Amino acid sequence: MKLLLLGSGGREHALAWKIAQSPKIKKLYIAPGNAGTALVGENVAISATDFRAIKTFVLEKRVGMVVVGPEDPLVKGVYDFFKNDASLQHIPVIGPSKEGAQLEGSKDFAKAFMMRHNIPTAGYKSITAENLEEGYTFLDTLQPPYVLKADGLAAGKGVLIVETKEEARTELADMLGGMFGDASKTVVIEEFLDGIECSVFVMTDGEGYKVLPVAKDYKRIGEGNTGLNTGGMGAVSPVSFADDVFMKKVDERIIRPTVAGLKSEGIDYKGFIFLGLIRVKGEPMVIEYNCRMGDPETEAVMLRIESDLVDLLEGVAQGNLNTREIKEDPRAAVTVMLVSGGYPEAYEKGKVITGLDKVSKENIIFHAGTKTENGQVLTNGGRVIAVSSYGKDKDEALAHSFAGAKTISFDKKYFRSDIGFDL
Ligand code: AMP
Ligand code: GLY
Repeated sequence: MKLLLLGSGGREHALAWKIAQSPKIKKLYIAPGNAGTALVGENVAISATDFRAIKTFVLEKRVGMVVVGPEDPLVKGVYDFFKNDASLQHIPVIGPSKEGAQLEGSKDFAKAFMMRHNIPTAGYKSITAENLEEGYTFLDTLQPPYVLKADGLAAGKGVLIVETKEEARTELADMLGGMFGDASKTVVIEEFLDGIECSVFVMTDGEGYKVLPVAKDYKRIGEGNTGLNTGGMGAVSPVSFADDVFMKKVDERIIRPTVAGLKSEGIDYKGFIFLGLIRVKGEPMVIEYNCRMGDPETEAVMLRIESDLVDLLEGVAQGNLNTREIKEDPRAAVTVMLVSGGYPEAYEKGKVITGLDKVSKENIIFHAGTKTENGQVLTNGGRVIAVSSYGKDKDEALAHSFAGAKTISFDKKYFRSDIGFDL
């Protein structure tokens, strides 16, 4: 089969790396890809949201499956675009419909969905400019800190957690006033949950599902989880506290009602569900849904899937996922992200990356933000390289990744050397 993967980050390189190992794959294209995906497939200079260009390409190359990495094309309706086009509808798109992608695209939609299906999550109220007073009243019922979320996609920046009610009132008004553009025309105010987080990934064909290895990501730029939020500075899998007892609760109270709820509401969903969970007093609750795999979690999780990923993707496409097997690698896997100095604020691009060929065989290198120019690999984003490794446990895997992180160089490189510290 010829497969087209959409996206250009570390997640896509990790997906491409795993997909390319499948004997079922004759040709792997990545649009637009990066310098790393070019090592395992063929990059195509098409944006992941340029549906017309994707259509032309897919028909010309006789692509048999499209796998969507990032949320943007899904929220914009790439699944529906294929389904509603007579010449494309026979080609499966792995990812939910536009309506299903609202689980990520609208926090208000996701919260209302969880309420309808009794899925444990923080208490909330959705506020617009019209009912601002109700927002202030709801804040009066909460204990600090206060959680304010832009309803729509805000590039991972739309969540504010503030200590005082005065700040919460001011930020609420500012968000509704356009702090995140249209994304914050509706704001979800949430009860603050205190606990430890993990990321659970589910593959579903709309009926059956498989749970992928659990991971934990590290979002803040600074060691000890301090400083600004980033796209993610590293990840580990497995997660010690996500044991069988916890995962049984997750399955019964969260995954099953989510998949059944989508089906009962007639929402077409054949793809990945990312559950951002928090453990509060031993019990799992949902912080957020995403309609795709996580980044950088994928750069660890793919190492821990022993089964042929393409076989599982075919199960999703054909609606017989329950007949397929997902086998986990018992080893630990981790990833450590090398980022550009200054990130997540202003940073420079175009720095020459060296040492990629000097890392040990223990490291699996995924490119996050790179490009090739005149035979040199250059930095091309805030997150640049994910250094992934296996180990008999997380500490061994981390030791390998930190060694790799030191071997690779570029001007103003930074990484967190405490990934996994809290487990
Ligand atoms: P989200 O984009 O919804 O994942 O939120 C970003 C981060 O904010 C989460 O990973 C949590 O660390 C934190 N967060 C979000 N909602 C809550 C909540 N209700 N209580 C505590 N922390 C939260
Ligand atoms: N690692 C969190 C995310 O992908 O949104």
